[in-house]
Amino acid sequence: MNDMIQKAQRHFAELVRTQMERSEKMKSAQEWLDYRTLEPLIIGFCWGDGIGPIISQETERVLNTILQDDIASGRIEFRTIAGLTIENRARQLKAIPDDVLQELKACHVILKAPTTTPEKGGPYPNIESANVAMRRELDLFANVRPVKIPQEGIDWMFFRENTEGEYVLGSKGFAASDDVAFDFKVITRPGAERIIRMAFDYARKNNIDSVTVVTKANVIKTTDGLFLEVAEQVARDFPEIKWEGWYIDIMTAKLIDPKRRTQFRVIVMPNLYGDILTDEAAEMQGGVGTAGSANIGKRYAMFEAIHGSAPRMIAEGRGQYADPSSLIKAAGMMLNHIGYVEQADKLQKALEICTQFEKKITITGRDTGVTGREFCDYILETMVASDLDEKYRSYIL
Ligand code: IPM
Ligand code: MG
Repeated sequence: MNDMIQKAQRHFAELVRTQMERSEKMKSAQEWLDYRTLEPLIIGFCWGDGIGPIISQETERVLNTILQDDIASGRIEFRTIAGLTIENRARQLKAIPDDVLQELKACHVILKAPTTTPEKGGPYPNIESANVAMRRELDLFANVRPVKIPQEGIDWMFFRENTEGEYVLGSKGFAASDDVAFDFKVITRPGAERIIRMAFDYARKNNIDSVTVVTKANVIKTTDGLFLEVAEQVARDFPEIKWEGWYIDIMTAKLIDPKRRTQFRVIVMPNLYGDILTDEAAEMQGGVGTAGSANIGKRYAMFEAIHGSAPRMIAEGRGQYADPSSLIKAAGMMLNHIGYVEQADKLQKALEICTQFEKKITITGRDTGVTGREFCDYILETMVASDLDEKYRSYIL
């Protein structure tokens, strides 16, 4: 027992050291990269695992349509990053193999199809999730996830902290015995501040007068307590915005309360709560396959589908029926982030028309609906049609 306690002390001491270093590093301010000045602007595309390559192909068609001229002129360069597959990662026993990380770092923004995350007892070695590693390695601290259901008055923007919380030491837990296991949650002041400030900034820029801060500070007192304390401080710089702290349990309930939910607009929270709440929200919008997710840092940004690689669909031979909407939506968020605002808006409208309003054809994930290719054709037709704006308005009003 004494041995184990000493081992635990050493383990924890090392964690404290690395996390304090990380926190210090965050304090040295880094400038935001200005995409407008880049020539070429390099987009890395990871096709991922399972249904990833199938939905990537469709997404590539959409991007080629939109960026055609700028690709031809050399202003935009696409790079396919082939090594981020579960086979290669498992072989090298690394969440992101070193050469792949170098390739990623040579890009400006990254579009990422779902990658398989191994789990304990599964067929692959239990390496860390590629998403989680990439968010950490590229310091993508903000996970921004919009969910919109206009006909129900829902317009949510979620800001999920993306580099710490329950995730940062998720692979550094401590099993003291067969019976006693520990994991660790870390919140830092600079880590909380940058995500909370981003949420308030977004609210201000978009004339939204409220921000909801979600924690479980009544129980998880030290870390969530710090998150809430930082929220209170940041809020002082935004006197025109009212803010409220909500606990994750009641927040999860109120998100499905039709009377209450339309009042939430900008929601900010630590990592794991954001993971869970955004899946719930995406499901209301039409399933996790319809959501997109932006991972934003000052130097890099990565855009991804919110769902997984769906190995079951591949095993059952249903890959061609996978819904590409989420990755296409992520591509739209990427376009917006790198300054193609108008094009991103068109794509977003087309997606909403096809997945929520007009629904001329439906995709069900099996042969009861259309294939991903057919659905992508539908999105493309809708996007380039001359009556796009008119049509969109007719659904919205
Ligand atoms: C997400 C996913 C990831 C997460 C998984 C794949 C590790 O669920 O992006 O929400 O938990 O963050
Ligand atoms: Mg998730």
